[in-house]
Amino acid sequence: MRIAGGITIVLSLVGAVSASLRPRSHDTRDYFALHLDPAIPPSQVAQVLGARHEGQIGELTDHHTFSLPRDENSHLDTLLDDWRAKRQLRRRSGNKITSRSSRNPLDGILWSQKLAPRQRLKKRIPPPPVAAVARSNPRNDKAAEQARAHVMKTLGISDPIFEEQWHLHNVERPEHDLNVTGIWLEGVTGKGIITAVIDDGLDMDSKDLKSNYFAEGSYDFNDDDPEPRPELSDDRHGTRCAGEIAAAKNNVCGVGVAFDSKVAGIRILSKAIDDVHEAEAINFGYQKNDIYSCSWGPPDDGATMDAPGVLIKRAMVNGVQKGRGGKGSIFVFAAGNGAMSGDNCNFDGYTNSIYSITVGAIDREGNHPSYSESCSAQLVVAYSSGSGDAIHTTDVGSDKCYSMHGGTSAAGPLAAGAVALALSVRPELTWRDLQYLMVETAVPVNEDDGSWQVTSSGRKFSHDWGFGKVDTYSLVARARSWEFVKPQAWYDSPWLRVHREIPQGDKGLLSRINVTAEQIKKANFARLEHVTVTMNVNHTRRGDLSVEMRSPGGTTSHLSVTRDEDNANAGYVDWTFMSVAHWGETPVGEWTVIVKDTEVNNDQGTFIDWRINLWGEAIDGSKQPLHPLPDLHDDDHPYEDAPVATTTVATGPTKTSHPNPDEHHDRPVNEKPGQPTPTKPAADQSTPAASPSSSAAASNYISSYLPSFGASKRTQVWIYASLAMIIVFFIGLGIYFQLQRHKHRRTNPQDDYEFEMIEDEDEMHPMTGAPGRSQRRGGELYNAFAGESDEEMFSDDDDSYGDGAANTREKDGEHDISQNTRLLSEK
Ligand SMILES: *[C@@H]1O[C@H](CO)[C@@H](O)[C@H](O)[C@H]1NC(C)=O
Ligand SMILES: *[C@@H]1O[C@H](CO)[C@@H](O)[C@H](O)[C@H]1NC(C)=O
Ligand SMILES: *[C@@H]1O[C@H](CO)[C@@H](O)[C@H](O)[C@H]1NC(C)=O
Repeated sequence: MRIAGGITIVLSLVGAVSASLRPRSHDTRDYFALHLDPAIPPSQVAQVLGARHEGQIGELTDHHTFSLPRDENSHLDTLLDDWRAKRQLRRRSGNKITSRSSRNPLDGILWSQKLAPRQRLKKRIPPPPVAAVARSNPRNDKAAEQARAHVMKTLGISDPIFEEQWHLHNVERPEHDLNVTGIWLEGVTGKGIITAVIDDGLDMDSKDLKSNYFAEGSYDFNDDDPEPRPELSDDRHGTRCAGEIAAAKNNVCGVGVAFDSKVAGIRILSKAIDDVHEAEAINFGYQKNDIYSCSWGPPDDGATMDAPGVLIKRAMVNGVQKGRGGKGSIFVFAAGNGAMSGDNCNFDGYTNSIYSITVGAIDREGNHPSYSESCSAQLVVAYSSGSGDAIHTTDVGSDKCYSMHGGTSAAGPLAAGAVALALSVRPELTWRDLQYLMVETAVPVNEDDGSWQVTSSGRKFSHDWGFGKVDTYSLVARARSWEFVKPQAWYDSPWLRVHREIPQGDKGLLSRINVTAEQIKKANFARLEHVTVTMNVNHTRRGDLSVEMRSPGGTTSHLSVTRDEDNANAGYVDWTFMSVAHWGETPVGEWTVIVKDTEVNNDQGTFIDWRINLWGEAIDGSKQPLHPLPDLHDDDHPYEDAPVATTTVATGPTKTSHPNPDEHHDRPVNEKPGQPTPTKPAADQSTPAASPSSSAAASNYISSYLPSFGASKRTQVWIYASLAMIIVFFIGLGIYFQLQRHKHRRTNPQDDYEFEMIEDEDEMHPMTGAPGRSQRRGGELYNAFAGESDEEMFSDDDDSYGDGAANTREKDGEHDISQNTRLLSEK
C-alpha cells in the first residue's frame, strides 16, 4: 500500500489534502514550505523558482510545498536570499507592496522554510516500566462490586479484562476512577464521535478496535499510505491509547471510555517527519475527526525546551478555527513524564498551547505519580500508572491485551474519551466550551497537600493537579445544559522592555503592567481564560531561572521552574509560557512577572523584555474576528490592530523582587509529593501595599551579605540556604520587617540601584515617567513606530524566513532581540 495504489485511494478519500501527500524523496530532492499571497498562483512561483509544486500543506490555505532536485537547491537558496534582502530593504524604507500586477511572483512569498525530517517527538511512556507490584491492601468494596456487576449486566459487558480496568470502575478504592459507568447507564457511550490518535500507529485489525476503526480519518505519514498499521516492533503505543478511548464492547480485552465511539489512527512517531507532514497530521480529516489525542511531545529530559514550528502552530490554530465545521478540533495532550528529571510542562510548546487540553496523571490510590509533570498550563489530571498498577487496555495483535500501559500517555486518552462522551451529547460544543467544562467539573484531589491555591475566581488550582481530576459523569451532565461561550477575544500588551541583570539568590527581577478596564473593553473582552507571557531572558545557564506571575486577583502562576538538568547557555528566547490558573479572574489591574535566578554561581543573565497576552470570551461575539494565524512575519501581521501603538500603558518599573514572607513556604512546583510544605497561596497575594518597600529592604539586606566568602560554590549555596532559613524564621516572627525598615533607611539607599527604583516607584506616573525609565522608552518606541507593528519591530524577518527554521528558532530569537535593541538605541 505504500505505492501508487495507496496514493490513489487517498486521493479519492480525502480530496483536498491528497495533493500534498506525495511520498517524499529527501535523498534526491529538497523540499520547501512557502506561505504565498493568495493572489499568486503556486504554479507561477514554481515556474520562477524552477521548482515542482508538491501541493497545498494539509488544510492550510495559501501554504504550499515545493521541491527541487538536490543539486539545484543552491539556486533556490540564492533566489530566496535575494528576495529576503529586497523585502528587508523595502520594509526599512517603509514601502509596502501595493501594485499586485507589477509584482514579481517571488514578492508573493510571505514566508519560507526548508524542510528537514526529524524524529524529535517522544512517546510519553513512563521512564521506568511500571511493575505490577502486589497492592498493599486489596480490599474490595462490596457495594462497589455489586454496582459493577449491575453495570456489566445492564450494559451486557462481558469483556474479559473489564474487571481489571479499575480506571473505569474501581472496586478497591471506589473514589478513584473516571466515574464513567453512571453516564453509560444513561445511554451515553460516545456514538457518532471520532477521536484520532496521533501516534505510532493503530492496529485496525485488532478485534477490539476493528468495529470502531475509522479508516477515513486515518493516515500513515511515516510510510505515506492510508493505513496507520503498526510496522515496527515497538509500534504499540498508539494502539494501546486507542483501546483506552474506543475499545469495543465485545469478548476481547476490555472497553474504552467511549466504547461506541470511533477511533482513527494517524501515524507520525515511527520515523522522522518534517513540519509539513506534522502540520498535515494535526489537521488530518478535521471535518470528521473531532478529537486529536496526542500522547507525545519533545523529550521529557528536564533539559529540552521545544515548541512546535510555526507551520504546526498554524495548523493547531487552523484546527480550532475551522475544524469540526468551525466548532474547533479538540486537542488533548499528555502533560509529560519528566517530573523525576525536574521537567515541567511549560517547557513544552504543545502542552502549554492554549489550544490544547493538557492532562497530567493521578494513580489508582489518588497519588501524584512521580513521573507526571506539573505546570501552570495543566488543565486536569486523569488516571494512569502508579501505586502498583497501570492501565489495562488493548494491544497490537488480533486479541492481545496489555496491563501495563502508563505514564501521562495513558492519562491523556482517558480524558479524550471523556470528551468524546461529552461531545456525543452536545456535538456543538466548541473547543473552548470543552475547556470550560473541564475546568468547571474537575474534582480537586488531595486538597491538603499544599499545592492548591484558591484563586480570586473562587476556583481551586494546583500546578500538580490542574483544576483536579476528570469526573466523566459531571463533565457529560454539565455538557448537556452548557451555555455556549461567545467567541474568543484577546488583549495583547505592548512589549515591555526590561533590560536588566537578574539578581542571584532569593531576589527576583520584577516587572509589572497595568491592564485597564478601558483596554479590556476596547478589546471586546468579557471573561478571562488563558494567560500567556512571551519573554526574552538571556542567561548562561537556563536551568537556574524561574518565573512567577501574579495576577491582579492575587493568584500566583509558576510559569517556569529551575531545572537541574538544563545546562543550556540560552535563556528564554521568545518563549511563550501559559497559565490556566487565572481562569475566571479579573483581567483588569496589575500583572506582575518576577524572574529569578536562585542559583548563586557564575551563571548570570539579563531579563530583556516580555509581553502578556490575555485570552478569553468576547463581550460581543458578533464583532469578534478570528485570531490571525500565529507568527506571520509579513505586512499583514496579526497585531496591527492590537492596542499596542495607541496604548498609554507603559513598562512597569523594574525593581528587586522581595521575598514575600509567605513565598518561602511556596511549594516548588516540581518538589516530590510526600514532602509537602505548608502554603497559603491565596492569602499571599493580598500582601498589603505597604510591604513592598519593607520587604525590598529585606532583600537588599540579603544582597549586601552576598560576597563569595572565598568559599566553594557548594559552600556558598549552603551559606545562602542557611541565611535564607534564618531570614524566613525572622520574617515568620514578624520582627524582621520592622527592624530592617529602620535599619535600611539608615544605610545608604543609593548603593543599590534596584532599591532606588522601589523608592520612587510611587512617584512615577505612567504618562510622565522619569527620564531614562524603561516605561518612558517603551512609550517613545511605540509612538515612533506607530505605523509599524510591534511584530515587525521585534522580529527580524531575515531570520524567520531562514532555512531549517525549526532548528534555528532560538538563534532567530537572538536576532530579534538584537534588532529590538538596535531600534531602541537608534531612537
Ligand atoms: C459521579 O457520578 C455520579 C453518578 O453516577 C454522580 O452522582 C456524582 O456526582 C459524580 N461525581 C462524583 C464526584 O461522585
Ligand atoms: C544578554 O544580551 C545582551 C545583549 O544582547 C548581551 O550584551 C549580554 O552579554 C547577554 N548576557 C548574557 C548573560 O548572555
Ligand atoms: C498600576 O496602577 C496602580 C493604581 O493606579 C498603581 O498604584 C501602580 O503603581 C500601577 N502600576 C504600574 C506598573 O503602572
